[in-house]
Amino acid sequence: MLPFKLKPCMAEKILSPELSPDLSRFGMSQGSRFLRACLRQPVDRTPVWFLRQAGRYMPEYQAVRRRHSLLEICKNPDLAAEVTITAAEKLDVDAAIIFADLLLPLEGMGLDFEFLAGEGPVIHQPVRTAADVENLRIDRANELGYVSEAIRKVVAHFHDRIGIIGFCGAPFTLASYMIEGGGSRNYTFTKTLMYREPSVWQLLLEKLAAVLEQYASQQVEAGADVIQIFDSWAGALSPSDYRDFVLPITTRLVRRVQALGVPVIYFGVDTASLLPAMRETGADVIGLDWRVPLDQGWAALGHAVAVQGNLDPITLFANEDLLRQRVRQILEQAGGRPGHIFNLGHGIVPGTPVENVQRVVQYVREFSLGDHVRA
Ligand code: CP3
Repeated sequence: MLPFKLKPCMAEKILSPELSPDLSRFGMSQGSRFLRACLRQPVDRTPVWFLRQAGRYMPEYQAVRRRHSLLEICKNPDLAAEVTITAAEKLDVDAAIIFADLLLPLEGMGLDFEFLAGEGPVIHQPVRTAADVENLRIDRANELGYVSEAIRKVVAHFHDRIGIIGFCGAPFTLASYMIEGGGSRNYTFTKTLMYREPSVWQLLLEKLAAVLEQYASQQVEAGADVIQIFDSWAGALSPSDYRDFVLPITTRLVRRVQALGVPVIYFGVDTASLLPAMRETGADVIGLDWRVPLDQGWAALGHAVAVQGNLDPITLFANEDLLRQRVRQILEQAGGRPGHIFNLGHGIVPGTPVENVQRVVQYVREFSLGDHVRA
């Protein structure tokens, strides 16, 4: 039983298992394979896609990027859709994640930022005081309409052929960018605010969640099949801090996105000790990073949730034999159990050989087909 009601068109996209008990004989569309795995329904083979599958390692993206800044691409629905579609087709994956960036919602909230070459994002006026938090606006989520516009174009291209993933940041990870002013090693400013001014912290997270909920809703309205919530830096927190300061608001966001009628994938890095608490958000799928063996991570979560992952993205620089071995190992750890989506443990990095990403798709097909036929 699902904890929420799927939006009506989703139910059609997901083949009823009763129709084809021997799924391996019939095959299924890539889209329904991906959606079914999110909901832990049996599939003919393990679905696969890659975190950051459309980024700088791809010559086609580099060509677009030479003519436009990252933000120009994100804000131009034609370009964002083109980059999304090209990557998904070139890799022949089961799902496409919309090309956008985690930080886009910050702009409408009143924070200017830019991406500096080699340094990553820089937020010019970080949020540090109660007044800074009070000044954040939550009434301009409609300015993010370019992302849902791009989703509409991707959906018009693929229809139901592959899964379409919309995404947003989680309140903690976005708050950390707002407070630190960029990436961070120790999260000193973030944790100081969290420990010393819990009511200001709470207001900040609530404002973020309010915007993210509207943003996710626009994406679902535009046709996103699933929303992935990136809590990339949650691993900076101890389990107690995660539970006390982050879990309640994240749970609320997850439930509200599910209430839109779509499954939620909740992902973080370095989360081995947080998994049982992350599970409590009620997300349908938990993304695992590569530091935890997939079988151990899945056991820590309990098997009543789907998992996504978890090849080390740097394995894509290894030789074919090792790559093959690691892909097989992850599939063996998943054991053909319904509810595994093959992915990396974090995003593809620049310089990754595209052929190796394509090879992983082939290996997943070869190995997992065998598993599911045997199952
Ligand atoms: O398939 C895709 O590549 C989807 C597009 C996508 C981007 N950002 C475009 C991007 C996605 C899914 C994101 C999410 C994102 N952005 C996250 C969460 C995912 C994760 O890796 O944990 C985070 C933390 C960000 C913030 C961000 N944006 C950082 C830290 C950086 C700089 C460092 C880096 O990895 O490049 C960015 C820039 C960025 N966002 C680029 C791209 C393609 C590269 C810059 C460029 O093209 O100029």
